[in-house]
Amino acid sequence: MTVRTPRQFFRPLAIGAPEPFRELPLRLERMIHFVPPHLEKVRAKVGELAGQVDIVLGNLEDAIPVEAKQAARDGFIAMGKAVDFGKTGLWTRVNALNSPWFLDDITAIMAEIGGKLDVVMVPKVEGPWDIHYVDQLLAQFEARHSLPKPIMIHAILETAEGVKNVDTIATASPRMHGMSLGPADLAASRAMKTTRVGGGHPEYKVIADPTPDGAARAVAQQDLWHYTLAKMVDACAAAGIKPFYGPFGDFADTAACEAQFRNAFLLGCSGAWTLHPSQIEIAKRVFSPDPADVAFAKRILEAMPDGSGAVMIDGKMQDDATWKQAKVIVDLAKQVAG
Ligand code: GLV
Ligand code: MG
Repeated sequence: MTVRTPRQFFRPLAIGAPEPFRELPLRLERMIHFVPPHLEKVRAKVGELAGQVDIVLGNLEDAIPVEAKQAARDGFIAMGKAVDFGKTGLWTRVNALNSPWFLDDITAIMAEIGGKLDVVMVPKVEGPWDIHYVDQLLAQFEARHSLPKPIMIHAILETAEGVKNVDTIATASPRMHGMSLGPADLAASRAMKTTRVGGGHPEYKVIADPTPDGAARAVAQQDLWHYTLAKMVDACAAAGIKPFYGPFGDFADTAACEAQFRNAFLLGCSGAWTLHPSQIEIAKRVFSPDPADVAFAKRILEAMPDGSGAVMIDGKMQDDATWKQAKVIVDLAKQVAG
């Protein structure tokens, strides 16, 4: 019997990764849609999400009351068994590694629906040691249950220690699928003075110099998350894995949600979390390339068939580098078109 170690299945997205590591498909993942699986009425309708969202995630961690932890785990397993999610990915966010629930979460889920699970989202990752632990545990359960494909790991970047170690987290295992920014826990970890879940703050701003005529001074709100998001995007891109923006808690403020998602998209993120159904369409729109951008990008690719040289299009210089930028946009458009 040929024994294949789980590592032989993996493919980081990294350019130059050996062929056997590239077997898993590169999926369109514009939104990671969170559901609370302990609620019967949520489970009853979860099948309607198949094909409508790119990923369904059964949340077992924060926002699930302590007395419902077991029900959430059981509910996730039940919905995993009952529903054919088709092309929609099936993920779970397990409880933190140092919580009383993590080990039972992994043990039960791998035994019951390990063959249907795509990704385990691990909260509060502080360093590569956390990923190594989950990696080994998953390898044991994959072997025990003879699972047909490897389970990938997605880390939430939501502690100051994690941000410090972001580069080594990104490269900690060939199982690394990607990383999400968790602005709520990160705010607490850093002692930021906010009670919001993501988004901006009206007091985080810059104010223009006074004018001689005493006119009202211009004020511009700043992006609280720019530094961490940019740091995370670089770490992920260098490691060949995917960066995501996390949650946006003010469901009523769809404009601010869209703006936060759009900043993440422009900066290089693949998607964001959707915690409310109203955020699904926002994520779908924002993380799919704009048709006008796609049309312009196609003109660049057509004008430089071998991707080299320099041409002018509508008065703008294009060269090898803009050809690569255009290819990112056109490739994403192809993925969206299916
Ligand atoms: C997500 O888990 C967050 O803390 O923002
Ligand atoms: Mg969190």
